[in-house]
Amino acid sequence: MSSATILKTPAALFPQPLRSRRPIPLDRLIVPLLTVLSLPLTGCRAKISEMPAGTPITIHPPLGLPAVPVPVDNQPTLQTVALGRRLFYEQRLSKDNSLSCASCHNPKLDFTDGRRVAKGVGGATGLRNVPTVLNAAYLPLLFWDGRAKDLEQQAGSPISDPIEMNQSHKVTVAKLARDPEYRTMFADAFGSSDITIGRVEKALASFERTLLSGNSAFDRYRYGGDNYALSPAQQRGLAIFIDPNKGNCAACHTIDPKYALFTDGKFHNIGVGVDDEGNLKDMGRYNQTHVDSDRGAFKTPTLRNIENTAPYMHDGSLQTLKEVVDFYAGGGNSNPYLDKDIRAIKLSGQDRADLVEFLKSLSGDLPSNAGPTEKR
Ligand code: HEC
Ligand code: HEC
Repeated sequence: MSSATILKTPAALFPQPLRSRRPIPLDRLIVPLLTVLSLPLTGCRAKISEMPAGTPITIHPPLGLPAVPVPVDNQPTLQTVALGRRLFYEQRLSKDNSLSCASCHNPKLDFTDGRRVAKGVGGATGLRNVPTVLNAAYLPLLFWDGRAKDLEQQAGSPISDPIEMNQSHKVTVAKLARDPEYRTMFADAFGSSDITIGRVEKALASFERTLLSGNSAFDRYRYGGDNYALSPAQQRGLAIFIDPNKGNCAACHTIDPKYALFTDGKFHNIGVGVDDEGNLKDMGRYNQTHVDSDRGAFKTPTLRNIENTAPYMHDGSLQTLKEVVDFYAGGGNSNPYLDKDIRAIKLSGQDRADLVEFLKSLSGDLPSNAGPTEKR
């Protein structure tokens, strides 16, 4: 009897080449295995690093502002900030090369556009009023309804938004990549000349983190020890602003012992955007959370540089600071979701005028790098 007949089991009837050889050592398997696993993520290429390169910088906040929070994976550098500044004024981010971020966030209007609601590519009418980007670095959530969690995430959305710049991220990257000057700037800022939307977003965010407004008359009075920085009317206005039994404004437009952001970063329904029947025209924060009490709630906006950023509110419905103060005195438009801190308040004509004067003391200087760079 031969050994072949003895081994006539079902396994022996089928060829088993792997078993017949010595097993491949693990270290020889790992590299090909990782390559196969990462293919769907990177599209056959090694992932392009989006870590900033260049010279790290510390952003020094002006009087009246706290330290600027920066994400660990996007520490600002001279080069990312310079690139972000360039991109902020870049019209090629829009479909027909007509709009840059600054078209709507115009530094001459303290980074707003003076319109009731925004106007996008081809004249598309936006839904909401343009907020300033000054001090947006401090906001825990961005947009009137808080739908972006940081400046990086925010920056990509206006580019592709059909009623804003209306251009896909892919086309945006391709347009920038055709410009050798940008390739150099991306190389300086991120270590290679590759352009990705992630790099675009990080650079824009780092530039925006430098757009700080502080050292206003209010700051010099409150934090700088200059008792004459505010006029008597403005000092009376400040007292009304803080007093819970008068303006109660600081309940939401926060003033802290060491700094003032004039926002609690939270969402409130103060009775703006209510039609004649008491219905809300824009659900605001509710669209993100689906929590009933968020119906018609919007992010408390900063009040810094407020004198220059009319019209006001998420729908741009109030034209002047006088109108805003009269609105609050009236207790907002009644609706079932009105915030508990909004109620009719007794303010004399003098009180109202003083509040308006105080609001005008919140304008600080813009940083020296805020404007567009010269075209080279
Ligand atoms: C067509 C006008 C328009 C353009 C262009 C535009 N924005 Fe805006 N921006 C808006 C409007 C309107 C909002 C508020 C939208 C909302 O909350 O729903 C906004 C919100 C923001 C915010 C949030 C501020 C806050 O208080 O929450 C930031 C930051 C910002 N934009 C930065 C940018 C950057 C960066 C670009 C360029 C990539 C840009 N915007 C382009 C209109 C524009
Ligand atoms: C309950 C919180 C709360 C209180 C109290 C409050 N605000 Fe506001 N404020 C907000 C919110 C939220 C908005 C945006 C509302 C919207 O657009 O629907 C706002 C908007 C504003 C705006 C317009 C800002 C812009 O950029 O459009 C001004 C000015 C303002 N408030 C001043 C005041 C003053 C003055 C007082 C006191 C009389 C006050 N606020 C009290 C939460 C509050």
